[in-house]
Amino acid sequence: MSEFPLAGPRRGTASRTTYPRAPVAVVGGGSIGVAFALVFAKAGHSVTIMDADPQRREAIPHELRAKLELLSASGLTAEEPDRIIRRVGITSTVREALSGAILVQECVPERLDVKRRIFSELGDLTAPECILASSSSAIPASRIAAEMDCDDRIIVAHPGNPPFLLPIIELVPTENTRSDILEKSRALYAGAGMSPVIVEREVEGFLFNRLQGAVLREAYALVRDGVATVEDIDTVMRDGLGRRWSFMGPFETVDLNTHGGISAHAEKMGPAYERMGAERGQHDPWTPDLVAEVNRQRRSVLALEDWEDRVAWRDRRLIDLITAISGTATPSTQEREHESTER
Ligand SMILES: NC(=O)c1ccc[n+]([C@@H]2O[C@H](COP(=O)([O-])OP(=O)(O)OC[C@H]3O[C@@H](n4cnc5c(N)ncnc54)[C@H](O)[C@@H]3O)[C@@H](O)[C@H]2O)c1
Repeated sequence: MSEFPLAGPRRGTASRTTYPRAPVAVVGGGSIGVAFALVFAKAGHSVTIMDADPQRREAIPHELRAKLELLSASGLTAEEPDRIIRRVGITSTVREALSGAILVQECVPERLDVKRRIFSELGDLTAPECILASSSSAIPASRIAAEMDCDDRIIVAHPGNPPFLLPIIELVPTENTRSDILEKSRALYAGAGMSPVIVEREVEGFLFNRLQGAVLREAYALVRDGVATVEDIDTVMRDGLGRRWSFMGPFETVDLNTHGGISAHAEKMGPAYERMGAERGQHDPWTPDLVAEVNRQRRSVLALEDWEDRVAWRDRRLIDLITAISGTATPSTQEREHESTER
């Protein structure tokens, strides 16, 4: 282990609430690997990062410290950065990184051959209880795991970037992934403060990039057709849709937009959205059965008698958001115009 030691727990020196937790190994210490190490170390796990590149190994401590100091200055971590950093070790060998690890988070470049080489080695060096997770954005776990003896404990665990600020993590098992591995993964990421979501089937782009892709496809088409400029489309998202979407999903958003909830919304707006889809050559109508299922799931989360309270909650969240961003983050167009007339 290198100049930046600390893999094992040091009893009595850390926060009682989070420490000690089982060791985690991170293979590949680039942007995602360092960010995952921070997530796990902040939650009280000891973490060992393995990277093949000596220059990266040299840079990682400085990157970790800079990120942790930023979080600490913003009040996003109560523990001293130094104490968190002491839980992170760095090494040049996979074997050394794995000691006692309950999870290996693979974060090497998005290349099937490189990932398969790593997972084959991980399969040989780890116990049958150890979760083998790939951060892959696009390569499904079944391709990484094909014909490996350890295929029953390989999953994709795809983060947003950076995972210490975006808690979402998409867990995508293969047909062979054991259910106990999936359940243990869910508990482990949740315990580290992340929001795990299980993707039931291996679809390209998982959920995050499919949703982002749907918005981007339309945004590109609108620019291509001369309907709006790039800046105006970003404004619609920043000052409109995005503000609500920063704390609610698209289903909850429209559920709260219409008296009667999401089924009333679908009745009113479904035909218009179907026409917009058809204009783009897409035919995915919101059929009565589909709307009934979406409505059933929404009503199991929010009964219609609580709808008014939730609308009031949404408005309070929007006010909190506006208060939080005014004067610091990007102001709205109106706020910018106001500023320029004041000058
Ligand atoms: N960057 C993102 O926005 C993002 C978001 C979600 C998921 N991902 C996924 O996470 C993974 C890592 O992406 P990244 O952006 O951190 O890449 P990166 O290029 O920043 O980091 C990759 C690291 O792996 C190291 N490495 C290369 N070969 C290795 C080997 N054989 N053994 C050990 N280390 C090795 C490199 O030295 C480098 O430090 C990819 O699969 C990517 O698709 C990336």
